Amino acid sequence: ALTTAAACILALSAGTAFAACDAGETVIKFAHVTNTDKHPKGIAASLFEKRVNEEMNGKVCVEVFPNSSLYDDDKVLEAMLAGDVQMAAPSLSKFESFTKKFRIFDLPFIFDDIAAVDRYQNSDDGQKLKRSMERKGLLGLAFWHNGMKQLSAKKPLLVPEDAKGLKFRIQTSDVLQAQFEALGANPQKMAFKEVYGALQTGVIDGQENTWSNIYGQKFFEVQDGATETNHGIIDYLVVTSTDFWNGLPDDVRGQLETILAEVTSERNAESTAVNEENKQLIIKAGSKVRTLTPEQRKAWVAAMKPVWSKFADGIGQDVIDAAVSYNA
Ligand code: LMR
Repeated sequence: ALTTAAACILALSAGTAFAACDAGETVIKFAHVTNTDKHPKGIAASLFEKRVNEEMNGKVCVEVFPNSSLYDDDKVLEAMLAGDVQMAAPSLSKFESFTKKFRIFDLPFIFDDIAAVDRYQNSDDGQKLKRSMERKGLLGLAFWHNGMKQLSAKKPLLVPEDAKGLKFRIQTSDVLQAQFEALGANPQKMAFKEVYGALQTGVIDGQENTWSNIYGQKFFEVQDGATETNHGIIDYLVVTSTDFWNGLPDDVRGQLETILAEVTSERNAESTAVNEENKQLIIKAGSKVRTLTPEQRKAWVAAMKPVWSKFADGIGQDVIDAAVSYNA
């Protein structure tokens, strides 16, 4: 890559903000949908870009496209199979049309915290999931953490009945659809980049997401606070096309895998702290963060957990039992 100053001038004149790639470098476009600053995925993707561009200069050049600036998550996997983008890190809830195996991660209240998710993903069972879409042309390279999901709406949500009749945006996951139907609410699948506008105009009344997404997208500005429910998780699969990855020279692939593994362990260790920082920023901005009493929490568990039985046959009760066993 060029020197930073030269790259900036070029990038500015081209109206883009990525590191310029040199002729002869293998270009890896890495598309994602969140902000880059104070966000677990945004920080990790930028660190991967920086390290590859420094350590593999002349061989490989990574260009990160954040904020849905290249593709939103509903399009990126098709674009990857077409060879238009080489890496992405969609949430595990967005692989529904490629595998049903990730449904385990969407079951409400299955994991107590991200540490349990981490233990499960690092088990033999979890690691196998990364290769579960190889036949379809997608290869999982790493799991990246975001955090626990919280609930928000245009009115306070303290007991499950508060959600009844409200329209909630969901990611493209049938488990999440069933979760909101279990509350008597109306779920609507929608791309991430449309959520703020849909909340603002009243197309939807509420949403579920992590503190970093609620802060990063400013959802709190158009909601009546948020409730700390920790009822589910948002985590990511760093994914590439099998053809692209297998076509790389062995040494290049090996070095990319080493850098990615180091970035993954460094940033995954910080994801909970990053979300906590975002929660504090939401409070500081004057928005309400409501906490549940133990009784209120029990009511949310009782309302949402029956969803498990709907998907148990498809996921496998043994798979569910194994995942649950990683809670401390
Ligand atoms: C969402 O669509 O709400 C999230 O998957 C966005 C993200 O990438 O964190």
